[in-house]
Amino acid sequence: MASDAKSALRSRIAVRLEAASGALASTTAELLLIPCCEGEPTLPGDAKPLSKPLAALLTDRRERGEFTGKANQLSLAEPHGVISAKRLLLVGLGKRSAVTAETIRQAMGKAAGQIKTLGVTHLATPLFGPGLGKLTPAAAAQAQAEGLLLGLYDFNLYKTETKPPVKSLTRATWVVSDKRLLPIVQGSLKWASIVSDAAMLARDLGNHPSNVATPSKIAELAKALAAELKLRCTIMERAEMERLGMWALVGVARGSQEPPKLIMLEYKGGRAGEPPIALVGKTITFDTGGISIKPSENMEQMKDDMSGGAAVLAAIQAAARLKLPVNVIGFLPATENMPSGTAQKPGDIVKTLSGLTIEVINTDAEGRLILADALTYAARFKPKWLVDIATLTGACGVALGKHAIGLIGTAPKLVAALKEAGEVTGERTWEMPLWEPYYDQIKSYVADVQNVGGRYGGVITAGAFLSKFVGKTPWAHLDIASTAWIDEPRPYTPKGVTGVGVRLLIEFLSRQRSGATKSRRGGRTTRASR
Ligand code: BES
Ligand code: MN
Ligand code: ZN
Repeated sequence: MASDAKSALRSRIAVRLEAASGALASTTAELLLIPCCEGEPTLPGDAKPLSKPLAALLTDRRERGEFTGKANQLSLAEPHGVISAKRLLLVGLGKRSAVTAETIRQAMGKAAGQIKTLGVTHLATPLFGPGLGKLTPAAAAQAQAEGLLLGLYDFNLYKTETKPPVKSLTRATWVVSDKRLLPIVQGSLKWASIVSDAAMLARDLGNHPSNVATPSKIAELAKALAAELKLRCTIMERAEMERLGMWALVGVARGSQEPPKLIMLEYKGGRAGEPPIALVGKTITFDTGGISIKPSENMEQMKDDMSGGAAVLAAIQAAARLKLPVNVIGFLPATENMPSGTAQKPGDIVKTLSGLTIEVINTDAEGRLILADALTYAARFKPKWLVDIATLTGACGVALGKHAIGLIGTAPKLVAALKEAGEVTGERTWEMPLWEPYYDQIKSYVADVQNVGGRYGGVITAGAFLSKFVGKTPWAHLDIASTAWIDEPRPYTPKGVTGVGVRLLIEFLSRQRSGATKSRRGGRTTRASR
C-alpha cells in the first residue's frame, strides 16, 4: 500500500509549535528556554522582563564562569518560584551584533539536544529578537523553530533495545509580547515545520540502509507522496529507458539485481503553461563503485548516495505543502551501482539519450552517467531553470571540506539565486569555474566524452561533463558529496545523513516569482533581511 510505504520509512517526531501572547514569567510550560547575549547583563527581546527576577541567578552563573552567553552555551536551572516554570534552560547566542539565523538555529539545536534528555513534554520560549542582528521577527521565529525541530531529530527506527522511557517533547509555545506579531510568528512556525519535516524526510531516506531504501521503495514513497499531496508521479521502468536510449542510466543498473527507476514527481503551483523549475537528484541507493570497486573502509556510507534524489523529493513535498506559486518537476534516476558478471566494465562505451557517446573509464563515476540521461530528459520539459543535486565527487571534500556545497553552472542568475538561498539557510555554496580548458580533461580517444577527468579539479571536470547533457537549458549543479554525511554531530544535525540541500532548494523555490499568482506567504513577505 502506498501509505504504508511512507509510514514505514519515516521516523516521527511530532512537536506542535504554537504562538501565544502573554508573559513568560507565568508560563504553564514545564521548561522555559531563555536566550542570553554574551556580555549583556539584560536579557534580549521578550525575555527582558525576566532580567530582574533572574539577575541573581545570571550573575552567579557568570561569576562562576558557568554561563556567559557565549554562542551555543547551555545552562540548566531550577528557578524555585522566581518564575512559574519548574525548569529554566539558558542558551547563549553569542555577541548580539553577530547573531544571524544560523547562530539561532545552532543555539536552538543545542538546546534541543539537551531537552531530549530531560523528559520535558512542553517548553515555552520567547521570540529571539527582534533587535538581534538584522533579523526580522519572521526570520527569527523560523530559524528558532527549524533549529529546535532539526535538533530533536533522531534516527532510531532500527534500535530494538528498549531504553528507560524518557518522555519526549510534544509542544513548544512561543510567548510573544506584541500581539500584532502573533500571525507573523504563527506563519513562520508553520513554515518551519514543513521545511524541517522535509529535511528530516531526506535524512530518513539517506539513513535507511540500501536493503530497505531500494529504487523500488523510493518509487513507492514518491507515489504515496503524490497521492497525499495531489501531485503527478510517473515511474519510468527499464524497458522504457531502453526504448528511449538512456544507455548511460541503464548501463549503471546492469550490475544490480534491483530494477532501476526514473521517478518523476510534478507539482503545479504556478500558472498553467508556465515553464517549470526542473530538479534532478542523483539517486544511487548504494554505490559500491561497480567493477572499479571502492575500498571497504567507510563503504557503508555509500547508502547516502541517494541524498540528491532525497533532497529533490523532500523539496517538492515542501513546495506542495507550502503551496508555493511555482511549477516544479523532479527527476530521480534511481539505481544501485554494483559489480557483477553483468555489470558494465571500464572501457565500455554507452550511447546517451542526447546522442553523445561516453567512454566509461571508471565505473565508480556512475553519478554523472545516470545524471547525463536524466538531465537530457529533464531538458525536454523546457524548464525555465534546470538544477541538479548530487553526491557526485570525493574531490568536493578535498576542495571545499565539509562546510560548503560545490556549485557550478551555465546561468549566472540561477547560480546567484542558489548561492543566496544557501546563505539564508546556512547550507552555503561555493562556486567553481566552468572554464573551457577543463573540458580537455574529459576528452576520450574513442568516444565523444569520457566519464573521468583525472586527479585535478574533480568537482569541475564532473560539472563540465554534466554540462554536455543540458543543451541550452540554463543549468546549475550542486555537489553535496562532502556535506551529505557527517561523523561529528553539529548543533542541529546528528551523526549520519544531514538532509543537506533540502532547505536550500525550498528557499530557492520560495523566491521564485510567478507571473500570475500573488505571493501566498501572507505575513511572511517581510522577512527580507536575514
Ligand atoms: N558517490 C561517489 C562520490 C562520493 C565520494 C560521495 C565520497 C561521498 C563520499 C561518486 O560516485 C564517486 O565515486 N566518485 C568518484 C569519481 C572518480 C572515480 C572520478 C570519486 O570521487 O572518487
Ligand atoms: Mn561512485
Ligand atoms: Zn556515487
